[in-house]
Amino acid sequence: MKIDAEVRTGQIADHDLYLDLLKRCLTGYLYPDSSNQEVHPDRSMRLSRRIILTALIKRGYKIFRTKPFNPEARALGQDWPSIGYSMAGLRRLDNLQFCVASVLSENVPGDLLEAGVWRGGSCIFMRAILKLHNITDRTVWVADSFQGLPAPTLEADKDYDLSGFSQLAVSQAEVEDAFRRFDLLDSQVRFLKGWFRDSLPSAPVSRLAVLRMDGDLYESTMDILNALYHKVSTGGYIIVDDYHLLPPCKQAVSDFRSRTGITDPIQEIDGTGVFWKKSD
Ligand SMILES: C[S@@+](CC[C@H](N)C(=O)[O-])C[C@H]1O[C@@H](n2cnc3c(N)ncnc32)[C@H](O)[C@@H]1O
Repeated sequence: MKIDAEVRTGQIADHDLYLDLLKRCLTGYLYPDSSNQEVHPDRSMRLSRRIILTALIKRGYKIFRTKPFNPEARALGQDWPSIGYSMAGLRRLDNLQFCVASVLSENVPGDLLEAGVWRGGSCIFMRAILKLHNITDRTVWVADSFQGLPAPTLEADKDYDLSGFSQLAVSQAEVEDAFRRFDLLDSQVRFLKGWFRDSLPSAPVSRLAVLRMDGDLYESTMDILNALYHKVSTGGYIIVDDYHLLPPCKQAVSDFRSRTGITDPIQEIDGTGVFWKKSD
């Protein structure tokens, strides 16, 4: 890894070390056990197994299925860490760091917002970068239902019903606690709770320098773009987390770009996520 080489040659600054450690911690990369998958009782199981699991869980046990840690998959954000605060993986957090650092160095005005935050790791990371640079006039907006994904209502999303995935439902209180553990919860972090279609059009956000989208569905992605794209400053960045993984998300981006005449080139991140820089 680049950072290891820089440490050896003594060229690395303390803040790079902090951000590198933060990325490894937020993605669960530091914890190989974070590949283990928690087992929940479900209807596909034999009744006897379901009864035993339910009884153990009621007594406070957590049951995990052992899975070998795959560092490459974690770097590329291809698995969901059981321990960790972001499923974006190291490379997409590198990209987020690049985008935030660029808008700061180029003085692109506006706040930083992620729509679709899960356990809040990407937002925690953005707040850490602002703190490192002593930036006090920008806010990190944390937008989510805090109850998982909505059931699909559009034809484009019909094969992607993730609404029953309890692992994706993380409450606002849990995300606030996560920020607190990193000592990064303060008045520069603001929460936008609700379905994007309700919360984003009236959100008190005036200008954005970075808009990170991770809502998975066509509807969620389109709701974010419709409500917020025009608030992104020229020179700001739009990041789409699951562009190549989830066809509905890609379709929404493509439909929005054609409808509004966006021709800024889409740039690749890690084979899954993409981003572009807004030129006007
Ligand atoms: C894949 S997770 C986000 C992962 C996160 N960005 C990370 O770095 O780990 C998707 C999130 O989007 C939220 N979400 C999806 N569609 C939504 C909608 N229409 N309104 C509100 N929240 C939504 C879900 O609650 C979930 O937290």
